[in-house]
Amino acid sequence: MSKQFYITTAIDYVNGTPHLGHAYEKVLADVIARSRRSLGDRVFFLTGLDEHGQKVKQAAQAQGLEPQAYCDELALSWQSLTTRLNLSNNDFVRTSSARHREMVQAILSRLHANGHFYQAEYRGYYSTRQETFLTEKDRRPDGTFDPFYGEVIELVEENYYFRLREHQAWLIDYIEAHPDFIEPDYRRNEVLGFLKHNTLEDLCSTRPATRLNWGIPVPFDPDFVTYVWFDALSNYVTIPAALGDPALTAALALPAHPAGPALWPADVQILGKDILKFHAVYWPIMLKAIGLPLPRKILAHGWWQKDGQRMSKSTGNVVDPIAVIDEWGADAFRYYVVRELDIGPDGNWTDAGFRSRYSAELANGLGNLVNRSLSMLQRYRNGIVPARSEELASEISTAARTAIGQLREYRLQPALLTIWSIVNRANQYVDQTTPFKLAKDPAQTAKLDAVLYNLAECCRILAVLLWPYIPTSAERIYDQLGLAAKPDSFDAATWGGLEPGHPIAGPQVLFPRKDSPTP
Ligand code: MSP
Repeated sequence: MSKQFYITTAIDYVNGTPHLGHAYEKVLADVIARSRRSLGDRVFFLTGLDEHGQKVKQAAQAQGLEPQAYCDELALSWQSLTTRLNLSNNDFVRTSSARHREMVQAILSRLHANGHFYQAEYRGYYSTRQETFLTEKDRRPDGTFDPFYGEVIELVEENYYFRLREHQAWLIDYIEAHPDFIEPDYRRNEVLGFLKHNTLEDLCSTRPATRLNWGIPVPFDPDFVTYVWFDALSNYVTIPAALGDPALTAALALPAHPAGPALWPADVQILGKDILKFHAVYWPIMLKAIGLPLPRKILAHGWWQKDGQRMSKSTGNVVDPIAVIDEWGADAFRYYVVRELDIGPDGNWTDAGFRSRYSAELANGLGNLVNRSLSMLQRYRNGIVPARSEELASEISTAARTAIGQLREYRLQPALLTIWSIVNRANQYVDQTTPFKLAKDPAQTAKLDAVLYNLAECCRILAVLLWPYIPTSAERIYDQLGLAAKPDSFDAATWGGLEPGHPIAGPQVLFPRKDSPTP
Protein backbone atom coordinates (compact mmCIF):
# COMPACT_ATOMS: atom_id res chain seq x y z
CA MET A 1 0.00 0.00 0.00
CA SER A 2 1.27 3.48 -0.78
CA LYS A 3 2.42 5.68 2.05
CA GLN A 4 -0.18 7.85 3.72
CA PHE A 5 0.34 11.45 4.73
CA TYR A 6 1.24 11.19 8.40
CA ILE A 7 0.95 14.14 10.80
CA THR A 8 1.55 14.22 14.56
CA THR A 9 1.24 16.70 17.43
CA ALA A 10 3.11 16.79 20.72
CA ILE A 11 1.40 14.59 23.30
CA ASP A 12 0.10 16.61 26.24
CA TYR A 13 0.91 15.92 29.87
CA VAL A 14 -2.17 14.23 31.22
CA ASN A 15 -2.00 15.95 34.61
CA GLY A 16 -2.41 19.46 33.22
CA THR A 17 -5.68 21.02 32.16
CA PRO A 18 -6.25 21.64 28.46
CA HIS A 19 -5.74 25.30 27.64
CA LEU A 20 -5.47 27.52 24.60
CA GLY A 21 -1.87 26.46 23.86
CA HIS A 22 -2.70 22.77 23.67
CA ALA A 23 -5.84 23.44 21.64
CA TYR A 24 -4.01 25.76 19.22
CA GLU A 25 -1.46 23.12 18.29
CA LYS A 26 -4.14 20.51 17.70
CA VAL A 27 -6.13 22.90 15.51
CA LEU A 28 -3.04 23.65 13.40
CA ALA A 29 -2.51 19.93 12.89
CA ASP A 30 -6.16 19.41 12.05
CA VAL A 31 -6.18 22.16 9.45
CA ILE A 32 -3.15 20.57 7.81
CA ALA A 33 -4.68 17.07 8.04
CA ARG A 34 -7.95 18.21 6.49
CA SER A 35 -6.25 20.24 3.79
CA ARG A 36 -4.22 17.18 2.76
CA ARG A 37 -7.45 15.18 2.56
CA SER A 38 -8.88 17.94 0.38
CA LEU A 39 -5.77 17.67 -1.77
CA GLY A 40 -6.58 13.99 -2.29
CA ASP A 41 -4.11 12.41 0.14
CA ARG A 42 -4.92 9.58 2.48
CA VAL A 43 -4.10 11.03 5.87
CA PHE A 44 -3.26 9.64 9.28
CA PHE A 45 -3.40 12.20 12.06
CA LEU A 46 -2.15 11.20 15.50
CA THR A 47 -2.44 13.08 18.79
CA GLY A 48 -2.63 11.95 22.39
CA LEU A 49 -1.31 11.98 25.94
CA ASP A 50 1.96 11.68 27.83
CA GLU A 51 1.07 9.87 31.04
CA HIS A 52 4.12 8.53 32.86
CA GLY A 53 6.39 10.07 35.47
CA GLN A 54 6.84 11.11 39.02
CA LYS A 55 4.33 13.94 39.06
CA VAL A 56 1.48 11.80 37.79
CA LYS A 57 2.31 9.10 40.29
CA GLN A 58 2.29 11.59 43.17
CA ALA A 59 -0.92 13.26 42.06
CA ALA A 60 -2.60 9.85 41.84
CA GLN A 61 -1.37 8.94 45.32
CA ALA A 62 -2.66 12.21 46.71
CA GLN A 63 -6.11 11.20 45.49
CA GLY A 64 -5.74 7.65 46.73
CA LEU A 65 -5.81 6.27 43.20
CA GLU A 66 -3.63 3.95 41.20
CA PRO A 67 -1.79 5.93 38.51
CA GLN A 68 -3.63 4.07 35.75
CA ALA A 69 -7.05 4.84 37.22
CA TYR A 70 -6.03 8.47 37.72
CA CYS A 71 -4.86 8.75 34.09
CA ASP A 72 -7.98 7.02 32.77
CA GLU A 73 -10.08 9.65 34.48
CA LEU A 74 -8.03 12.62 33.26
CA ALA A 75 -7.78 11.22 29.75
CA LEU A 76 -11.55 11.62 29.37
CA SER A 77 -11.36 15.42 29.46
CA TRP A 78 -8.47 15.44 26.97
CA GLN A 79 -10.30 13.11 24.64
CA SER A 80 -13.39 15.23 24.87
CA LEU A 81 -11.28 18.24 23.85
CA THR A 82 -10.49 16.53 20.56
CA THR A 83 -14.22 16.09 19.94
CA ARG A 84 -15.11 19.63 20.97
CA LEU A 85 -12.40 21.02 18.67
CA ASN A 86 -13.81 18.84 15.89
CA LEU A 87 -10.43 17.24 15.26
CA SER A 88 -10.26 14.62 12.55
CA ASN A 89 -7.55 12.58 14.27
CA ASN A 90 -7.36 8.93 13.25
CA ASP A 91 -6.00 7.66 16.54
CA PHE A 92 -5.30 8.83 20.06
CA VAL A 93 -2.17 7.57 21.78
CA ARG A 94 -1.90 7.13 25.53
CA THR A 95 1.59 6.27 26.71
CA SER A 96 0.17 4.05 29.46
CA SER A 97 -1.46 1.76 26.90
CA ALA A 98 -0.18 -1.76 26.28
CA ARG A 99 0.34 -1.18 22.55
CA HIS A 100 2.65 1.76 23.22
CA ARG A 101 4.49 -0.01 26.03
CA GLU A 102 5.17 -3.12 23.96
CA MET A 103 6.60 -1.10 21.07
CA VAL A 104 8.75 1.06 23.35
CA GLN A 105 10.16 -2.17 24.73
CA ALA A 106 10.86 -3.44 21.22
CA ILE A 107 12.72 -0.18 20.49
CA LEU A 108 14.72 -0.38 23.71
CA SER A 109 15.69 -3.99 23.03
CA ARG A 110 16.86 -3.18 19.57
CA LEU A 111 18.87 -0.17 20.65
CA HIS A 112 20.40 -2.11 23.51
CA ALA A 113 21.34 -5.01 21.23
CA ASN A 114 23.12 -2.56 18.97
CA GLY A 115 25.10 -0.99 21.77
CA HIS A 116 23.36 2.37 22.00
CA PHE A 117 23.01 2.26 25.78
CA TYR A 118 25.58 2.05 28.54
CA GLN A 119 25.21 2.01 32.30
CA ALA A 120 26.77 4.71 34.40
CA GLU A 121 26.43 6.53 37.64
CA TYR A 122 23.94 9.38 37.65
CA ARG A 123 24.56 12.30 39.98
CA GLY A 124 21.99 14.98 40.52
CA TYR A 125 20.39 17.24 43.06
CA TYR A 126 17.17 15.83 44.32
CA SER A 127 14.36 17.34 46.33
CA THR A 128 12.78 14.65 48.45
CA ARG A 129 9.88 16.88 49.42
CA GLN A 130 8.95 17.54 45.81
CA GLU A 131 10.43 14.26 44.58
CA THR A 132 12.05 15.99 41.69
CA PHE A 133 15.50 16.46 40.21
CA LEU A 134 17.06 19.91 40.27
CA THR A 135 19.96 21.31 38.34
CA GLU A 136 22.42 24.14 38.77
CA LYS A 137 19.88 26.34 36.98
CA ASP A 138 17.43 25.87 39.85
CA ARG A 139 19.79 27.51 42.32
CA ARG A 140 18.93 31.02 43.42
CA PRO A 141 21.50 33.80 42.99
CA ASP A 142 22.84 33.10 46.50
CA GLY A 143 23.45 29.45 45.60
CA THR A 144 20.61 27.98 47.70
CA PHE A 145 17.49 26.23 46.46
CA ASP A 146 14.01 27.59 47.09
CA PRO A 147 12.70 26.44 50.53
CA PHE A 148 9.73 25.03 48.57
CA TYR A 149 12.03 22.12 47.69
CA GLY A 150 12.80 21.30 51.32
CA GLU A 151 16.03 19.41 51.84
CA VAL A 152 17.99 19.02 48.62
CA ILE A 153 20.36 16.08 48.54
CA GLU A 154 22.90 14.96 46.03
CA LEU A 155 21.59 11.71 44.70
CA VAL A 156 23.75 9.07 43.10
CA GLU A 157 22.25 6.16 41.22
CA GLU A 158 23.04 3.82 38.36
CA ASN A 159 21.13 4.44 35.13
CA TYR A 160 21.17 3.64 31.45
CA TYR A 161 22.42 6.36 29.16
CA PHE A 162 21.63 6.69 25.47
CA ARG A 163 24.62 7.75 23.39
CA LEU A 164 24.07 11.12 21.78
CA ARG A 165 27.55 12.55 21.55
CA GLU A 166 28.72 10.54 18.57
CA HIS A 167 25.73 11.72 16.51
CA GLN A 168 26.39 15.43 16.63
CA ALA A 169 28.32 15.79 13.37
CA TRP A 170 25.96 14.01 11.01
CA LEU A 171 22.97 15.78 12.51
CA ILE A 172 24.51 19.19 11.81
CA ASP A 173 25.24 18.09 8.23
CA TYR A 174 21.72 16.76 7.82
CA ILE A 175 20.03 19.94 9.03
CA GLU A 176 22.28 22.04 6.82
CA ALA A 177 21.61 19.87 3.78
CA HIS A 178 17.82 19.86 4.36
CA PRO A 179 16.73 23.44 4.86
CA ASP A 180 13.05 22.39 4.95
CA PHE A 181 13.54 19.90 7.78
CA ILE A 182 13.00 22.40 10.61
CA GLU A 183 10.70 25.37 10.15
CA PRO A 184 10.46 28.31 10.61
CA ASP A 185 14.04 29.06 9.55
CA TYR A 186 14.85 31.06 12.70
CA ARG A 187 14.06 27.96 14.76
CA ARG A 188 16.26 25.89 12.47
CA ASN A 189 19.09 28.37 13.05
CA GLU A 190 18.59 28.09 16.81
CA VAL A 191 18.95 24.31 16.62
CA LEU A 192 22.07 24.61 14.46
CA GLY A 193 23.52 27.20 16.84
CA PHE A 194 22.88 24.90 19.77
CA LEU A 195 24.46 21.90 18.04
CA LYS A 196 27.51 23.84 16.90
CA HIS A 197 28.25 25.50 20.22
CA ASN A 198 27.55 22.72 22.69
CA THR A 199 28.70 19.19 23.21
CA LEU A 200 25.74 16.89 23.54
CA GLU A 201 25.46 15.14 26.88
CA ASP A 202 24.37 11.51 26.63
CA LEU A 203 20.74 11.15 27.63
CA CYS A 204 19.90 9.55 30.94
CA SER A 205 16.98 7.41 29.84
CA THR A 206 15.97 5.32 32.85
CA ARG A 207 15.09 5.53 36.50
CA PRO A 208 15.47 2.78 39.09
CA ALA A 209 12.11 1.04 39.43
CA THR A 210 12.41 1.19 43.19
CA ARG A 211 12.16 4.99 43.04
CA LEU A 212 9.86 5.49 40.07
CA ASN A 213 7.68 2.65 38.88
CA TRP A 214 5.14 4.63 36.82
CA GLY A 215 7.08 4.19 33.63
CA ILE A 216 7.81 1.49 31.07
CA PRO A 217 9.83 -1.47 32.38
CA VAL A 218 13.17 -1.76 30.60
CA PRO A 219 13.03 -5.18 28.90
CA PHE A 220 16.70 -6.04 29.39
CA ASP A 221 16.89 -4.94 33.04
CA PRO A 222 13.81 -5.25 35.26
CA ASP A 223 15.34 -2.95 37.88
CA PHE A 224 14.70 0.06 35.64
CA VAL A 225 11.90 1.89 33.90
CA THR A 226 12.23 4.30 30.99
CA TYR A 227 10.81 7.69 31.56
CA VAL A 228 9.74 10.98 30.03
CA TRP A 229 11.40 11.78 26.72
CA PHE A 230 12.40 8.32 25.59
CA ASP A 231 8.94 7.06 26.30
CA ALA A 232 7.13 10.15 24.98
CA LEU A 233 8.99 10.73 21.70
CA SER A 234 8.63 7.09 20.75
CA ASN A 235 4.85 7.49 20.47
CA TYR A 236 5.26 8.82 16.94
CA VAL A 237 6.42 5.38 15.82
CA THR A 238 4.90 3.05 18.41
CA ILE A 239 1.35 3.58 17.21
CA PRO A 240 2.15 3.05 13.51
CA ALA A 241 4.26 0.03 14.54
CA ALA A 242 1.39 -1.38 16.59
CA LEU A 243 -0.89 -0.92 13.57
CA GLY A 244 1.62 -2.84 11.47
CA ASP A 245 3.41 -0.16 9.44
CA PRO A 246 5.76 -2.31 7.30
CA ALA A 247 8.73 0.10 7.60
CA LEU A 248 8.51 -0.15 11.37
CA THR A 249 7.79 -3.83 11.76
CA ALA A 250 10.83 -4.48 9.56
CA ALA A 251 13.10 -2.09 11.51
CA LEU A 252 12.02 -3.56 14.84
CA ALA A 253 12.10 -7.16 13.58
CA LEU A 254 8.43 -7.65 14.49
CA PRO A 255 6.04 -10.01 12.70
CA ALA A 256 4.81 -8.50 9.44
CA HIS A 257 1.20 -7.34 9.34
CA PRO A 258 -0.47 -7.91 5.98
CA ALA A 259 -2.77 -4.87 6.10
CA GLY A 260 -0.54 -2.49 8.06
CA PRO A 261 -0.74 1.13 6.90
CA ALA A 262 2.45 2.70 5.52
CA LEU A 263 2.91 5.81 7.67
CA TRP A 264 6.53 6.37 8.68
CA PRO A 265 8.32 8.71 8.03
CA ALA A 266 5.95 11.38 9.29
CA ASP A 267 5.32 14.16 6.80
CA VAL A 268 4.89 16.84 9.47
CA GLN A 269 5.47 16.84 13.19
CA ILE A 270 4.05 19.89 14.86
CA LEU A 271 5.06 21.04 18.34
CA GLY A 272 5.76 24.11 20.44
CA LYS A 273 9.05 26.00 20.46
CA ASP A 274 9.79 24.92 24.05
CA ILE A 275 10.20 21.27 23.05
CA LEU A 276 11.98 21.83 19.76
CA LYS A 277 15.35 20.60 21.04
CA PHE A 278 13.88 17.23 21.98
CA HIS A 279 12.31 16.88 18.55
CA ALA A 280 15.10 18.31 16.45
CA VAL A 281 18.06 16.77 18.30
CA TYR A 282 17.15 13.76 20.46
CA TRP A 283 14.41 12.39 18.24
CA PRO A 284 16.41 12.33 14.96
CA ILE A 285 19.25 10.63 16.81
CA MET A 286 16.92 8.01 18.27
CA LEU A 287 15.49 7.34 14.81
CA LYS A 288 18.89 7.03 13.19
CA ALA A 289 19.96 4.63 15.93
CA ILE A 290 16.86 2.49 15.33
CA GLY A 291 17.62 2.58 11.59
CA LEU A 292 14.65 4.68 10.57
CA PRO A 293 14.40 7.71 8.30
CA LEU A 294 13.81 11.13 9.86
CA PRO A 295 10.47 12.92 9.64
CA ARG A 296 10.14 15.14 6.61
CA LYS A 297 9.35 18.26 8.55
CA ILE A 298 9.40 19.55 12.09
CA LEU A 299 7.16 22.58 12.41
CA ALA A 300 7.57 24.61 15.59
CA HIS A 301 4.84 27.00 16.61
CA GLY A 302 5.07 29.87 19.09
CA TRP A 303 3.46 30.35 22.46
CA TRP A 304 0.27 32.14 23.37
CA GLN A 305 -0.03 34.56 26.21
CA LYS A 306 -3.25 35.97 27.57
CA ASP A 307 -3.48 39.74 27.99
CA GLY A 308 0.28 40.00 27.62
CA GLN A 309 1.00 37.58 30.50
CA ARG A 310 2.09 33.97 30.60
CA MET A 311 -0.89 31.66 31.01
CA SER A 312 -0.94 30.09 34.43
CA LYS A 313 -3.58 28.18 36.27
CA SER A 314 -2.42 29.46 39.63
CA THR A 315 -3.06 33.10 38.73
CA GLY A 316 -6.24 32.23 36.83
CA ASN A 317 -4.79 33.82 33.69
CA VAL A 318 -5.84 31.10 31.23
CA VAL A 319 -8.00 30.75 28.15
CA ASP A 320 -10.19 27.68 28.47
CA PRO A 321 -10.90 26.50 24.93
CA ILE A 322 -14.02 24.61 26.04
CA ALA A 323 -15.54 27.76 27.53
CA VAL A 324 -14.84 29.67 24.30
CA ILE A 325 -16.35 26.86 22.23
CA ASP A 326 -19.42 26.69 24.48
CA GLU A 327 -20.06 30.36 23.89
CA TRP A 328 -18.91 30.90 20.32
CA GLY A 329 -18.66 27.51 18.63
CA ALA A 330 -15.66 25.43 17.60
CA ASP A 331 -15.33 27.09 14.20
CA ALA A 332 -15.02 30.57 15.72
CA PHE A 333 -12.24 29.30 17.99
CA ARG A 334 -10.49 27.47 15.14
CA TYR A 335 -10.76 30.46 12.85
CA TYR A 336 -9.46 32.93 15.38
CA VAL A 337 -6.35 31.05 16.47
CA VAL A 338 -5.17 30.38 12.93
CA ARG A 339 -6.05 33.85 11.66
CA GLU A 340 -4.49 35.66 14.61
CA LEU A 341 -1.18 33.82 14.82
CA ASP A 342 1.09 32.61 12.06
CA ILE A 343 3.01 29.39 12.75
CA GLY A 344 6.23 30.53 14.45
CA PRO A 345 5.95 33.74 16.44
CA ASP A 346 4.35 34.14 19.86
CA GLY A 347 0.82 35.44 20.14
CA ASN A 348 -1.42 37.20 22.59
CA TRP A 349 -5.06 36.36 23.25
CA THR A 350 -7.40 39.12 24.29
CA ASP A 351 -11.15 38.60 24.61
CA ALA A 352 -11.69 41.92 22.86
CA GLY A 353 -9.52 40.84 19.91
CA PHE A 354 -11.44 37.60 19.63
CA ARG A 355 -14.82 39.38 19.68
CA SER A 356 -13.70 41.91 17.17
CA ARG A 357 -12.56 39.31 14.61
CA TYR A 358 -15.70 37.28 15.23
CA SER A 359 -17.89 40.23 14.55
CA ALA A 360 -16.00 41.82 11.64
CA GLU A 361 -14.71 38.75 9.83
CA LEU A 362 -17.08 35.89 10.64
CA ALA A 363 -20.47 37.52 11.31
CA ASN A 364 -20.21 40.58 9.05
CA GLY A 365 -17.72 39.18 6.56
CA LEU A 366 -18.33 35.55 5.65
CA GLY A 367 -21.68 35.10 7.42
CA ASN A 368 -23.25 38.16 5.90
CA LEU A 369 -21.97 37.30 2.42
CA VAL A 370 -23.50 33.84 2.46
CA ASN A 371 -26.68 35.07 4.04
CA ARG A 372 -27.37 37.89 1.62
CA SER A 373 -26.24 35.94 -1.44
CA LEU A 374 -28.58 33.05 -0.71
CA SER A 375 -31.42 35.27 0.53
CA MET A 376 -31.38 37.21 -2.74
CA LEU A 377 -31.20 34.02 -4.78
CA GLN A 378 -34.21 32.75 -2.90
CA ARG A 379 -36.15 35.99 -3.07
CA TYR A 380 -35.48 36.92 -6.69
CA ARG A 381 -35.16 33.48 -8.32
CA ASN A 382 -37.13 31.20 -5.99
CA GLY A 383 -33.88 29.57 -4.90
CA ILE A 384 -33.12 28.24 -8.39
CA VAL A 385 -29.53 28.72 -9.61
CA PRO A 386 -29.65 30.88 -12.74
CA ALA A 387 -27.60 30.61 -15.94
CA ARG A 388 -23.87 30.25 -15.51
CA SER A 389 -21.78 33.42 -15.55
CA GLU A 390 -18.03 33.83 -15.65
CA GLU A 391 -17.75 37.39 -14.39
CA LEU A 392 -15.68 36.61 -11.29
CA ALA A 393 -14.39 33.26 -12.57
CA SER A 394 -10.84 34.20 -13.33
CA GLU A 395 -10.06 36.26 -10.23
CA ILE A 396 -11.68 33.77 -7.87
CA SER A 397 -9.96 30.81 -9.55
CA THR A 398 -6.60 32.56 -9.25
CA ALA A 399 -7.16 33.24 -5.55
CA ALA A 400 -8.30 29.65 -5.00
CA ARG A 401 -5.18 28.28 -6.69
CA THR A 402 -2.97 30.55 -4.59
CA ALA A 403 -4.67 29.48 -1.36
CA ILE A 404 -4.36 25.80 -2.22
CA GLY A 405 -0.66 26.30 -3.04
CA GLN A 406 -0.14 27.98 0.33
CA LEU A 407 -1.93 25.16 2.12
CA ARG A 408 0.29 22.66 0.37
CA GLU A 409 3.22 24.42 2.03
CA TYR A 410 1.50 24.48 5.45
CA ARG A 411 1.19 28.28 5.29
CA LEU A 412 -2.13 28.30 7.07
CA GLN A 413 -2.46 31.97 7.96
CA PRO A 414 -1.38 33.31 4.52
CA ALA A 415 -3.81 30.88 2.87
CA LEU A 416 -6.61 32.08 5.13
CA LEU A 417 -5.86 35.67 4.16
CA THR A 418 -6.01 34.70 0.49
CA ILE A 419 -9.35 33.00 1.06
CA TRP A 420 -10.61 36.11 2.82
CA SER A 421 -9.70 38.16 -0.24
CA ILE A 422 -12.52 36.17 -1.91
CA VAL A 423 -14.93 37.04 0.93
CA ASN A 424 -14.02 40.70 0.62
CA ARG A 425 -14.19 40.70 -3.16
CA ALA A 426 -17.61 39.07 -3.16
CA ASN A 427 -18.98 41.50 -0.56
CA GLN A 428 -17.60 44.38 -2.62
CA TYR A 429 -19.25 42.88 -5.72
CA VAL A 430 -22.64 43.02 -3.98
CA ASP A 431 -22.09 46.67 -3.13
CA GLN A 432 -20.95 47.49 -6.68
CA THR A 433 -23.62 45.59 -8.59
CA THR A 434 -26.51 46.46 -6.20
CA PRO A 435 -28.65 43.41 -6.98
CA PHE A 436 -31.54 44.83 -4.90
CA LYS A 437 -31.75 47.68 -7.43
CA LEU A 438 -31.35 45.37 -10.43
CA ALA A 439 -34.30 43.35 -9.11
CA LYS A 440 -36.57 46.35 -9.53
CA ASP A 441 -35.76 46.79 -13.22
CA PRO A 442 -37.10 44.11 -15.62
CA ALA A 443 -34.53 45.19 -18.23
CA GLN A 444 -31.78 43.97 -15.87
CA THR A 445 -32.95 40.36 -15.57
CA ALA A 446 -29.90 38.86 -17.27
CA LYS A 447 -27.55 41.06 -15.25
CA LEU A 448 -29.24 40.01 -12.00
CA ASP A 449 -28.97 36.34 -13.04
CA ALA A 450 -25.26 36.85 -13.55
CA VAL A 451 -24.75 38.56 -10.19
CA LEU A 452 -26.69 35.88 -8.33
CA TYR A 453 -24.78 33.09 -10.05
CA ASN A 454 -21.43 34.70 -9.27
CA LEU A 455 -22.33 35.17 -5.62
CA ALA A 456 -23.64 31.65 -5.12
CA GLU A 457 -20.58 30.21 -6.82
CA CYS A 458 -18.28 32.31 -4.61
CA CYS A 459 -20.06 30.92 -1.54
CA ARG A 460 -19.62 27.38 -2.84
CA ILE A 461 -15.91 27.80 -3.55
CA LEU A 462 -15.42 29.46 -0.17
CA ALA A 463 -16.99 26.43 1.51
CA VAL A 464 -14.51 24.16 -0.26
CA LEU A 465 -11.49 26.30 0.63
CA LEU A 466 -12.60 26.85 4.21
CA TRP A 467 -13.46 23.26 5.06
CA PRO A 468 -10.02 22.53 6.57
CA TYR A 469 -10.35 25.55 8.87
CA ILE A 470 -14.04 25.71 9.79
CA PRO A 471 -15.48 22.35 8.75
CA THR A 472 -18.91 22.70 10.35
CA SER A 473 -19.60 26.10 8.79
CA ALA A 474 -18.27 24.93 5.41
CA GLU A 475 -20.61 21.94 5.51
CA ARG A 476 -23.48 24.21 6.49
CA ILE A 477 -22.79 26.44 3.47
CA TYR A 478 -22.95 23.35 1.27
CA ASP A 479 -26.22 22.31 2.95
CA GLN A 480 -27.69 25.76 2.39
CA LEU A 481 -26.68 25.54 -1.25
CA GLY A 482 -28.61 22.28 -1.42
CA LEU A 483 -25.47 20.27 -2.18
CA ALA A 484 -25.43 16.73 -0.87
CA ALA A 485 -21.66 16.16 -1.09
CA LYS A 486 -19.16 17.38 1.50
CA PRO A 487 -16.90 20.32 0.63
CA ASP A 488 -13.87 18.14 1.35
CA SER A 489 -12.07 18.05 -1.98
CA PHE A 490 -10.14 20.89 -3.59
CA ASP A 491 -11.10 19.47 -6.97
CA ALA A 492 -14.42 21.19 -6.31
CA ALA A 493 -12.74 24.60 -6.00
CA THR A 494 -13.02 25.18 -9.75
CA TRP A 495 -15.48 27.69 -11.13
CA GLY A 496 -18.80 26.48 -12.45
CA GLY A 497 -19.66 23.71 -10.00
CA LEU A 498 -23.20 24.99 -9.47
CA GLU A 499 -25.52 23.75 -12.18
CA PRO A 500 -28.10 26.17 -13.56
CA GLY A 501 -31.56 25.00 -12.45
CA HIS A 502 -30.21 23.52 -9.20
CA PRO A 503 -32.47 24.35 -6.21
CA ILE A 504 -30.71 25.66 -3.13
CA ALA A 505 -32.00 24.90 0.37
CA GLY A 506 -31.95 28.49 1.60
CA PRO A 507 -29.96 30.61 4.04
CA GLN A 508 -29.47 30.04 7.76
CA VAL A 509 -27.40 32.28 9.99
CA LEU A 510 -23.84 30.94 10.19
CA PHE A 511 -22.34 33.20 12.85
CA PRO A 512 -25.01 34.87 14.98
CA ARG A 513 -24.20 38.48 15.77
CA LYS A 514 -23.55 39.01 19.45
CA ASP A 515 -23.92 42.35 21.12
CA SER A 516 -20.54 43.35 22.44
CA PRO A 517 -20.71 44.27 26.08
CA THR A 518 -20.12 47.97 26.73
CA PRO A 519 -16.45 48.50 27.48
N1 MSP B 1 4.45 15.96 27.08
C1 MSP B 1 5.33 16.91 26.51
C2 MSP B 1 5.48 16.71 25.02
C3 MSP B 1 5.95 15.34 24.61
S1 MSP B 1 5.94 15.20 22.87
C4 MSP B 1 6.68 13.75 22.57
C5 MSP B 1 4.79 18.34 26.74
N2 MSP B 1 3.51 18.42 27.11
S2 MSP B 1 2.75 19.82 27.42
O1 MSP B 1 1.41 19.46 27.80
O2 MSP B 1 3.51 20.61 28.34
O3 MSP B 1 2.74 20.62 26.07
C6 MSP B 1 2.13 20.07 24.92
C7 MSP B 1 2.22 21.02 23.74
O4 MSP B 1 1.48 22.21 24.04
C8 MSP B 1 3.66 21.46 23.44
O5 MSP B 1 3.92 21.43 22.06
C9 MSP B 1 3.70 22.87 23.97
O6 MSP B 1 4.60 23.71 23.27
C10 MSP B 1 2.27 23.31 23.72
N3 MSP B 1 1.93 24.45 24.58
C11 MSP B 1 1.84 24.45 25.94
N4 MSP B 1 1.57 25.73 26.33
C12 MSP B 1 1.51 26.56 25.25
C13 MSP B 1 1.18 27.92 25.04
N5 MSP B 1 0.96 28.76 26.03
N6 MSP B 1 1.07 28.33 23.75
C14 MSP B 1 1.22 27.49 22.68
N7 MSP B 1 1.53 26.22 22.86
C15 MSP B 1 1.83 25.75 24.13
O7 MSP B 1 5.55 19.27 26.55
